[in-house]
This record gives sequence, C-alpha cells and structure tokens, in this order.
Amino acid sequence: SLPKNVTLIEVGPRDGLQNEKNNIPTEVKLSFIQALHDAGIKEMELTSFVSPKWVPQMKDAQEIVQRVRKNGRQLVLTPNKKGIHAAINAGAESLAVFVGVSDTFNQKNINCSTSESVTALRPLIQQVKQDGHYVRACISTAFHCPYEGFIRPEQTVALCRQFVEMGVDELSVADTDGMANPLASHSLFSNLKTQFPEVLITAHFHDTRKMGIANIYASLQAGVDRFDTSAGGLGGCPFSPGATGNVATEDVLYLLQSLHIETGIDLTGICLAVDEVAPYLSRPIETAMYQLYKRE
Ligand code: HMG
Ligand code: MG
Repeated sequence: SLPKNVTLIEVGPRDGLQNEKNNIPTEVKLSFIQALHDAGIKEMELTSFVSPKWVPQMKDAQEIVQRVRKNGRQLVLTPNKKGIHAAINAGAESLAVFVGVSDTFNQKNINCSTSESVTALRPLIQQVKQDGHYVRACISTAFHCPYEGFIRPEQTVALCRQFVEMGVDELSVADTDGMANPLASHSLFSNLKTQFPEVLITAHFHDTRKMGIANIYASLQAGVDRFDTSAGGLGGCPFSPGATGNVATEDVLYLLQSLHIETGIDLTGICLAVDEVAPYLSRPIETAMYQLYKRE
C-alpha cells in the first residue's frame, strides 16, 4: 500500500542552481527560497559550503544562511571540515554531507576517494551530532556512475551502513545521472527500508531520461515517503556530465495529488516560486505542470 503522507525536500536552491551558468543575485535566491516556503515546503537544501572555484554559483552560501527567514528544516551541503565549520559559523543547524559510492565520481566531485571521504567525515559527523545538529548523508551514484558504469546494490548498501553507524539522521540516496529504473528503484529502496529502519530514507532522482516519476511511483510502493525534488526541474551536478535536473517538484506534486497523497504543498505556489528565478536562468523551464500554469 502507498503512504498517506509524503515529504518533499526541495533542492532547487542548491542542486537546482549549482550548475546554472548565469550568476544569480543573492536577492533572487532569497525570494525563490521564501516563495518555496510560502508554497508549503518544510524541508529544503538552501546552498552549499564548497569551493567557489569549483562551484561559483554557491559562493554566497554564508549570506544565504544568515539572511534567510528561518522556516522548517533548512539544510546546507558540506563536503569536508572546512565546509562544516563555515556552515556552523554562519548559523546552519542541519548539515548534508555528500559522498559517491563510485570512487571515480567522488574523486571528480570532491577530489578524494570514497574511503578518504568516509574517514575524514566520521569524526566530524560524530562531533556535530553530539553538538545537536541534524545530519543527512547524500549518497551519490547509488545506481550508476557516469564514469564507472553500473554500481552493485551491495556497494551502495555497504556505504549507507557506514553512515548509519556514524549516527546520521537521514540517507538521501541518489540516482546522480538518471540511470535508475522502476525495478532497480523498488529493489534498492525496499532493501534500504528493511535494513535501516532507524534512519529517514529519502530518494533523489535526476530526470535525465524522464524516469523520475516512474521511479518515484516504484519507490512509493517500496515504502519511501520522502523525495528530493526541484522546482522547475532545475539542477544537475557539475561533475556528472550530461546529467539534467532533478525530478520537478510540481510534476511530482501532480502525481501525488492524483494518488490522494498529502504533502501540504501548493502546486501553484511552486510555480509562483519558479517565476521568481526563471527570468535569471540560461534555459527555459520545460516541466509539464509549469507549462500548463503558464498557459492558464
Ligand atoms: P580541494 O581543492 O581538494 O580542496 O577541494 P583543498 O582542501 O585542497 O583546498 C583547496 C582550496 O579550496 C583551498 O583554498 C581551500 O581553503 C578551499 P585556497 O587556499 O586554494 O584559496 N576549500 C574550501 N572552500 C570553501 N568551502 C570548502 C572548502 N574546502 C576547501 N568546503 C572541495 C575540495 C570539496 C572543496 C572541492 O572539491 C569542491 O568544492 N567540490 C565541489 C563539490 C560540489 O559542490 N558538488 C556538487 C554537489 S554534490 C551533488 O550535486 C550530488 C547530489 O545532488 C546527489 C546526487 O545527485 O548524486 C548531492
Ligand atoms: Mg543531485
């Protein structure tokens, strides 16, 4: 049976904008974030504390955290010690660490191997958990790696287990390059839900091959009730060549409404939020529900 309630974690301001070529003014990002909250979003990735040389769009992370109106769970991405310290100094309460199952992807993304990341993160996570912070672990290339090809599910489960043992609150398990399918999604997420009942399990699908909605339906059937989605379908990792945006919040909302699943999020409100940022983007918004909204 399907869940009655689902949480959508909005990743538009982070995953959505990190790959955008145009420099988006901080004011516009803050209006986008506020409009997403107004639409009923309760959990959101706001920004990343990463190197501005690697990801220039996220260079205003500190200002975003300091100026955003506090609302619900506001996450920031932190790859390493420097990022974690900068985020906490800026006042961030909830942190998202990120690691790839694939060594090659991790190397391209954060310039070290997967095991080097895990070793460096372990004491940091234990410390911030002791200090009362919420920690989510984003597990990239959980299905497939743009450099190494298909990933064995046992490898993904093993990496997830290491983070569960470190005491993270949540795993966000990602199809980085849009290569998951409904069968693989159902299988991996059933497995994760059974193995790790003590943490929140969230599914993060990129929609490169338009499988996002189908994968979400399959994951709902596996008992997943949390999904990372991006308003306007924005997004893509700069270190995953060809990967497009996350599955779109407004299109997922349409699916969930049709299944009578509650989210507390207003679909038109999400389209209004997209209106805040759309004029500043280098590409048009092509999601089904945003286009219908524009025609009305
Ligand atoms: P590095 O070059 O290996 O770092 O980068 P380093 O320790 O050698 O330091 C080099 C310089 O970076 C130094 O500055 C450091 O101070 C600075 P310099 O002395 O040259 O002026 N530095 C930092 N600056 C700001 N924030 C930091 C930080 N750390 C070091 N945290 C680093 C390592 C991780 C920083 C770099 O590789 C990086 O920024 N990578 C970007 C990764 C990224 O943002 N990827 C996209 C997000 S992940 C994603 O999209 C996937 C996800 O959506 C799930 C999915 O779909 O798969 C989550
Ligand atoms: Mg992503």
